[in-house]
Amino acid sequence: LSFLLFVAGELLLLSSVILLFRVVCGCPARCHCHSSSRSVDCSRQGLAEIPPDLPPHTLTLHLQDNQIHQLPAFAFRSVPHLRTLNLYNNSLSNLAPGVFHGLQHLQVLNLTQNSLHSLESRLFHSLPQLRELDLSSNNISHLPISLGKPWENLTVFAVQQNRLQQLDRELLESMPSVRLLFLKDNLWKCNCHMLSLKLWLEKFIYKGGIMDSVTCVSPHTWKGKDLLKIPHELYQPCSLPSAGTGTSRVQQPDPGSPESHGLGQRDRSECELKPKPRPINLRHAVATVVITGVVCGIVCLMMLVAAIYGCTYAAVTAQHKAGRLAQTEETVKLEGKEPDDSSPA
Ligand SMILES: *[C@@H]1O[C@H](CO)[C@@H](O)[C@H](O)[C@H]1NC(C)=O
Ligand SMILES: *[C@@H]1O[C@H](CO)[C@@H](O)[C@H](O)[C@H]1NC(C)=O
Ligand SMILES: *[C@@H]1O[C@H](CO)[C@@H](O)[C@H](O)[C@H]1NC(C)=O
Ligand SMILES: *[C@@H]1O[C@H](CO)[C@@H](O)[C@H](O)[C@H]1NC(C)=O
Repeated sequence: LSFLLFVAGELLLLSSVILLFRVVCGCPARCHCHSSSRSVDCSRQGLAEIPPDLPPHTLTLHLQDNQIHQLPAFAFRSVPHLRTLNLYNNSLSNLAPGVFHGLQHLQVLNLTQNSLHSLESRLFHSLPQLRELDLSSNNISHLPISLGKPWENLTVFAVQQNRLQQLDRELLESMPSVRLLFLKDNLWKCNCHMLSLKLWLEKFIYKGGIMDSVTCVSPHTWKGKDLLKIPHELYQPCSLPSAGTGTSRVQQPDPGSPESHGLGQRDRSECELKPKPRPINLRHAVATVVITGVVCGIVCLMMLVAAIYGCTYAAVTAQHKAGRLAQTEETVKLEGKEPDDSSPA
């Protein structure tokens, strides 16, 4: 019995030593800490929240393949030097404002394969040094005009495999250094509001940017078409994006309220692309009427002139003929008289 007690005591001591060791070294249970690279790997641990006691000098934090579904504000306050944060394949459905506060040095943020459906405006304002932002494979249907302060160094922006119908040019303009764009597999609605995106993307590619594709899902006319291959002429009924008016107006209402959604929808449907713009047809019609009128007028005038000429000619001829007839009659009479005259002779 005393031996067993001794063993138990030893085990207790050992485990407390291990615990002490962990606290001193600052590596949370269920994570692996690599001191040389200052990275902490907590992936595939079935975590529901961020482990406490992360080493304060951590540069890379792997939290992928867990079940984290919520993050509090200032969630990463204890690791202010973080450069890379990987939250791939978790269960995040929304992100509270201020989640990323304090991550002044973060360069890579991977939020791929979560269940995000919308993002707060200015959510990433506290990440001025961001270089790569991956939001792909979520359920995002709307992105605000502003996500971060102008991101001087952001080069990769990925939103493929979401439910986006449109993307504001202003958002892309806040990433002056972006070189890689992933946009495919969304619900792109290719109406007038996409014209400014189309123009922006054309310029982006011209300047050497690399992107996948924007395939239209609606309206029916453009289903399956690549936005960049729709000719400009077909955007004629759309007003050109002068200083972003109109586009931004539709986007501003709070995405949460169903009323604003309805308004946006109505605004958008009023602005559908027309394969055959009406103004041209109208102009054609007016031109046709004018030309027809002129031609008709000329023809009528000519007919009138012809008629007058005809009548005059006929009258003159008739008069002349009448004169000659009378003359002939006289001649005939005279000639008729002649035999009378000559008979006695
Ligand atoms: C996502 O993480 C879960 C564990 O939470 C894992 O079982 C699954 O294989 C991962 N999926 C992918 C695509 O890596
Ligand atoms: C962008 O990167 C450069 C070079 O690494 C750095 O000097 C600069 O501070 C960064 N800009 C911001 C806004 O962090
Ligand atoms: C995010 O993680 C996924 C899965 O590991 C990877 O395919 C993707 O390239 C990562 N994104 C970035 C920007 O590093
Ligand atoms: C994505 O959102 C749609 C509605 O917008 C919802 O029906 C669907 O269940 C969501 N999917 C996931 C994986 O959250």
